This record gives sequence, structure tokens and C-alpha cells, in this order.
Amino acid sequence: MIVTIDGPAGSGKSTTARAVARRLGFVYLDTGAMYRAIALAFLRNDAEATADGARTLLPDVHVNVRYQEDEMRVFLNGDDVSGAIRTVRVGNMASQISALRSVRDKLLDTQRRVGGEQAQKHGGIVVDGRDTGTVVFPDADVKIFMVADARERARRRLEQYHRQGEDATFEEVLHEIEERDEADRSRDIAPLKRAEDAVELDTTTQTIDEQVDFVVDRVAKARTQQA
Ligand code: DC
Repeated sequence: MIVTIDGPAGSGKSTTARAVARRLGFVYLDTGAMYRAIALAFLRNDAEATADGARTLLPDVHVNVRYQEDEMRVFLNGDDVSGAIRTVRVGNMASQISALRSVRDKLLDTQRRVGGEQAQKHGGIVVDGRDTGTVVFPDADVKIFMVADARERARRRLEQYHRQGEDATFEEVLHEIEERDEADRSRDIAPLKRAEDAVELDTTTQTIDEQVDFVVDRVAKARTQQA
């Protein structure tokens, strides 16, 4: 069973995906973390976020995913960077380099391989990102497209930054969210968009439990249909 959850930054994808995976005994695959790992490599090597920059850098960049007690960890050239990738700077670089075809091509195979292996092993995966229902797993069993009002998403992101000890104002985060939305939607390759067969879930006024129930219910329906 493959469940994809796509949507803009701050719509609640990762919190929901992680909780759905836990509830169903599946594992969670965070594709954004993989883009962030490559972004960290760009930053550490002072590489330009261009096709030329990627051509020089990418042959020496290896991103992998492993599960430790069913928790996803992301590795850059063998080092666990799961913590180091959670900064605003890395997020901004991830947004830029995720528009490059060579970067997307590099990650696509790994996402499919890890997703396939884990789905086999655990009976299912929940994967989140921007293009997981459109490009990575176009035949997924359940596809969700999560949306939420930009101000609500900014409020959630700000809370997350504060929890992580990062300093930011509401206006800065709102601006960052709006810019990110525009960049993710308007890029030529794998833009953020709802797959035709995805169900839209607006989380603006929903609690996490309601979001999780909604997705779990969809999975149950898909299982009944497949049985
Ligand atoms: O979800 P996130 O903030 O960790 O993602 C970081 C960036 O990676 C985001 O700006 C868009 C990009 N991304 C992508 O292009 N495709 C995905 N499947 C996941 C993330």
C-alpha cells in the first residue's frame, strides 16, 4: 500500500504522514528531507544553485535513507544529517535546487527504491512531498493533496521554528511561505500540483487527529476496494 501526501509548505503533510504511518504500522518517507540533504551539500561546498553548479557537485553527492527503529534517517555521503537539514537556510536552498532536473533525477530512483522496499517490508509506506502522487508514485493506492490558508501555514511554521530555537517573525515566515509556494508551483519540472486522482484535504481549521482520521479512512476504503 502506497499513500502519497503532497501539498505546499506548512499544510501539515509531514505531521500527518508520520502519524498515519504510526497508526497503520507503515513507515514514513519524507522526500523533502532528501532534497534538503542535497541542499546541505550545495551549501557546504559553496556550490551555485544552477545546472552548472549541480553538474560539478552531484557526482560526489550520495543521499541515502535508512530506518532506525522505523524512524527515517537521511544520510549525506554516509553521515546522518537528519538534524542538520532542519534550518531555514537549508530549506531555502532546497527550494532552489529542487527546480534542477539533475537533482530531481538523482533522487527519483532512490525514492522509488526505498519506497518499494519499505512498502514490501511493512505492508505500506506514507510518502510526502510535492510530486509524490504525480511523478514518484503515479500508481499510489491513496493520494492526498493537502492545502491550508497561507496565514495558518505561516503560524504553524513559526511555531515549529520557535520549537527548534530559530528566530523569525510572523511576517518573515509568511513571506517565505508565499515565495516558496510560488517557486514550487511555477517551476517547469515536477511542479507542485494536485494529481488528478488525488483527494484534496483543507487543513486550515482541522486538528491533527482529524487529518489523520481522514487519511486512515481513505486507506481503509482503498483496502476494501482492492479486496
Ligand atoms: O517539505 P520540505 O520543506 O522539507 O521541502 C524542502 C524543499 O524541497 C521544498 O521547497 C520543495 C522541495 N521538494 C520538492 O521539490 N519535491 C518533493 N517531493 C519534496 C520537496
